[in-house]
Amino acid sequence: MTASRTLVITGAAGRLGTYLRSSLNEVATKARLVDIVAPPEALPGEPVEIYQGSVTDADLLDAVCRGADAVVHLGGFAGDRPWPDLSEVNVGGTSEVLEAARRNDVKRVVVASSNHAVGFRVRGPQPLADDVAPLPDSLYGVSKAASEALCQFYSVKFSMDIVCLRIGSCFDAPQNHRMLSTWLSPADFVRLTSASLTTPRPGFRLVWGVSANARRWWSAAGGEAIGFHPEDNAERFAELYPGRPPEPEYVGGATI
Ligand SMILES: NC(=O)c1ccc[n+]([C@@H]2O[C@H](COP(=O)([O-])OP(=O)(O)OC[C@H]3O[C@@H](n4cnc5c(N)ncnc54)[C@H](O)[C@@H]3O)[C@@H](O)[C@H]2O)c1
Repeated sequence: MTASRTLVITGAAGRLGTYLRSSLNEVATKARLVDIVAPPEALPGEPVEIYQGSVTDADLLDAVCRGADAVVHLGGFAGDRPWPDLSEVNVGGTSEVLEAARRNDVKRVVVASSNHAVGFRVRGPQPLADDVAPLPDSLYGVSKAASEALCQFYSVKFSMDIVCLRIGSCFDAPQNHRMLSTWLSPADFVRLTSASLTTPRPGFRLVWGVSANARRWWSAAGGEAIGFHPEDNAERFAELYPGRPPEPEYVGGATI
């Protein structure tokens, strides 16, 4: 980062939030960390402020968005739940975050969507486009597809730059065969977030969150278009998962 940049990070106590916090100097000069579970206190000299609260709390979101340059919205349920929970937190929370960004003139928002928003799309002969239309494979995926639609609406209606990341599997290392295709390394997640925050005037974008895996079958075009150049490849973990069982037919790895 060159210019001074204040970032709001929701879900900052979670896995991806922690990855981002540990590489904060690559994406911001300071950050306001929001989570329903209190993120760990600031280390000496660490340029962060801690806020414990919900992404459904408009007053809290106003307080953190005031004077901020961008929001990275990671907070919410990261897997399937009963619909009332997903509706309130994933969809309602995304709506509140976008509304607070709009009210406070924060023009850039990066939102964690998921491959499960398009989880029932099938593998074809060509790499799957970043912006393939939603086809969720779970209620969780429905909550992500609805969040993407909210983002597109706010971008078009209010001229906001909003990048939705269709994240594959972001862990320290792949945890099964499928993740040899879908893995997003922590370092590539930070690179992707940095590109999403700095690419000039993206408008509304959908971008796969996936590393440069030899077995990937999701397009690299959307990432390249915003200046995301992944450097990691899950193949170096292939010996952990020997053999080549048939890979899942569907994006999200589930079956019908
Ligand atoms: N890690 C992955 O592989 C992956 C893949 C696809 C999408 N995603 C998405 O990325 C985001 C982050 O995922 P993660 O892996 O870090 O999950 P995580 O569960 O580790 O982190 C999510 C964080 O959100 C917080 N949270 C939950 N409800 C909240 C609320 N009402 N208000 C504020 N914070 C709340 C949780 O306390 C948690 O710290 C999620 O939106 C998830 O759906 C992650």
